[in-house]
Amino acid sequence: MKKQNKKKPIIIAHRGASGYRPEHTLGAYELAIEMGADFIEPDLVTTKDGILIARHENEISATTDVSLHPEFSDRQTKKNIDGTLKNGWFTEDFTLAEIKKLKARERIPQIRHQNQVYDDLYSIPTLQEIINLVKIKSLEKGYEIGIYPETKYPTYFHNIGLPLEEALVETLHNNNYQGEQAPIFIQSFEVSNLQKLSSLTNLPLVQLLNLDSKPYDFVNSGDPRSYRDLTTVEGLQEISKYATAIGIHKNLLVPRDTNDKLLPPTSLVTDAHAVNLLVHVWTFRNEDVFLPLDFQGNPQGEYEEFFQLGIDGVFSDFPDTALDAIKISNK
Ligand code: G3P
Ligand code: CA
Repeated sequence: MKKQNKKKPIIIAHRGASGYRPEHTLGAYELAIEMGADFIEPDLVTTKDGILIARHENEISATTDVSLHPEFSDRQTKKNIDGTLKNGWFTEDFTLAEIKKLKARERIPQIRHQNQVYDDLYSIPTLQEIINLVKIKSLEKGYEIGIYPETKYPTYFHNIGLPLEEALVETLHNNNYQGEQAPIFIQSFEVSNLQKLSSLTNLPLVQLLNLDSKPYDFVNSGDPRSYRDLTTVEGLQEISKYATAIGIHKNLLVPRDTNDKLLPPTSLVTDAHAVNLLVHVWTFRNEDVFLPLDFQGNPQGEYEEFFQLGIDGVFSDFPDTALDAIKISNK
């Protein structure tokens, strides 16, 4: 992709059209494409045999039916993942053939109870299956649909001998995704694995920036910098040496007060654009529980607020709402 600001912000379907289908399923990705998303966003973890699959976490009890499989009951275990003790079932303990016996489930049934009718319909997709879907749908639609993969827990997977980066680059290159113009953005919350990726590929890279925490590779190496430090002019200059864009928590751009009311925006878009970084913002969701006080019952209003600030893209669980908001903003 070109390192320049686009007029129309791109719509990145966050985990697919995850407002309507269980996240990270081919059903969620296909619906997002039908709704008009420009990119679909798979979070990636790996299996025991080194196959990249789409899950937000490597611990999969919250988004699959794994706990109901007696043949896998002995795989339940406790692990420390990036400093948090987790109890459950972990993708790196399953081969792809075993993962394919599982079905996906709605992550937040208490909020998205209507999506439970799609529980146990979809299997866990591999990155290759997602690419295949995108190629078919791009041909069908007559325009190129992009993929926006995220490496999850890169330090952890590196430390257990299952690094994500080589497998990801090999899969993308083998599928003819090459160079800066390819319809791909590779994202990570860590820094060092993006720097490593920049030596493996020319595909566009995105530094994710969270609120009040640190990249886990910084925690691991003793680097004192936080995500906030990376949002300074100096931090953005450093990022621009290896990345095309930043993917930011929306409160970094428009903070909220303790009542969830929006405060004046920061200079982050201006500062990032000054060093030629695109700005993609996450995560936009329709439900009031996620919306600021200012836009309760009006998710489109939230998009419009951010579009006015010159952002280049949004991660959305509801790509149809994002598209409606873009149309209204362009009127
Ligand atoms: O990847 C950016 C956006 O997806 C926010 O992160 O936690 O939903 O993967 P997460
Ligand atoms: Ca993600």
